[in-house]
Amino acid sequence: MELIIADKFFRKGNEFLNTTYPIICGAMTWISDPKLVAAVSNAGGFACLAGGNTPLEVLKQQIEQTKNLTSRPFGVNLITIAPLYSQQLDLITDLNLDYVIFAGSFPKKKEVQFARDSGAKVMCFASTESIARRMIDYGANALILEGMEAGGHVGQVSLTILLQQVLFEIPEIPIFVAGGIATGKMGAHLLLMGAAGIQLATIFAAAEESCAHPDFKKKLIKSNARDAVSTPQFDSNLPVVAVRALKNQATEQFGKLQLKLLAELDQGNISRSEAQNKVEEFWMGALRRAVQEGDVAQGSLMAGQSVGLVKEIAPINLIMKRLIRDIDQELITVKKLFDG
Ligand SMILES: Cc1cc2nc3c(=O)[nH]c(=O)nc-3n(C[C@H](O)[C@H](O)[C@H](O)COP(=O)(O)O)c2cc1C
Repeated sequence: MELIIADKFFRKGNEFLNTTYPIICGAMTWISDPKLVAAVSNAGGFACLAGGNTPLEVLKQQIEQTKNLTSRPFGVNLITIAPLYSQQLDLITDLNLDYVIFAGSFPKKKEVQFARDSGAKVMCFASTESIARRMIDYGANALILEGMEAGGHVGQVSLTILLQQVLFEIPEIPIFVAGGIATGKMGAHLLLMGAAGIQLATIFAAAEESCAHPDFKKKLIKSNARDAVSTPQFDSNLPVVAVRALKNQATEQFGKLQLKLLAELDQGNISRSEAQNKVEEFWMGALRRAVQEGDVAQGSLMAGQSVGLVKEIAPINLIMKRLIRDIDQELITVKKLFDG
């Protein structure tokens, strides 16, 4: 697409991602498969396979399949609190991937170094200023600054605050921003603020190419921003990472699960890490049921507040074209304001 101004603002992100447009489809466990990833990368953006809880052999196959579907860059996203995390990290460093993205909680310094030593560029999530600074200290090559508006596992700080604390204050490495973005107009202003690019996920979960069950997609396009709620932590004895999902029975069941695990912790029948593993297993299982079986009542419908802006099931090429066109148009409008 011929762009009037956007190219200039895309440069930093494109140089890092080796893309045509610095627009990232964030990893989504059970959804980000080779087809979705290749479709976004082939449209000039960047996408990540979701390590999630994927068995090693399957993850290896998915990497090969993606390479067969696109010659463009893509990454692999690993969740540091997932049961198979360490083995997945060994696998992907053996495969000399170009991009490794650490998500979930945060990686250890030696793990970031390990991934870098394999030749990969490392991207780390940051949901607070202190995590952002720590990830840079650990050697991250770029950050994904994610506000609490996002879907899936989330922090507690909104993107508005993180932009001021991190994007405006930390010029050292490229910062891609995420959480609540679904329009090119918003993307343009984030680029003007200094973002290297933008990451979106919920809009891509509803894409034609997404493997999410049709009933899941229907729920996405019918929901309002306020339907995507984040889960509370009941007691500091059982620290849990909040999850943002459309409110349904699964969100209520999660409350009951926390109470049950807290009682077991009190009685000394379970360790804290076992309890936390049970929480992660709950989400992985519940998300799989929603994505693969279309269980929209009891499965987990992870989605960001951006769900309120997602109104149709569209093909990825169209989603990308609209985003890029609207970024450029908004930048032209802003320039006119100055040229007056
Ligand atoms: C269904 C779903 C699953 C997700 N799974 C992951 C994941 O496995 N790893 C990860 O880093 N982020 C995950 N995320 C977060 C997204 O990659 C992304 O950063 C976030 O959703 C951006 O906010 P948005 O949905 O408002 O665009 C998930 C999000 C959703 C909606």
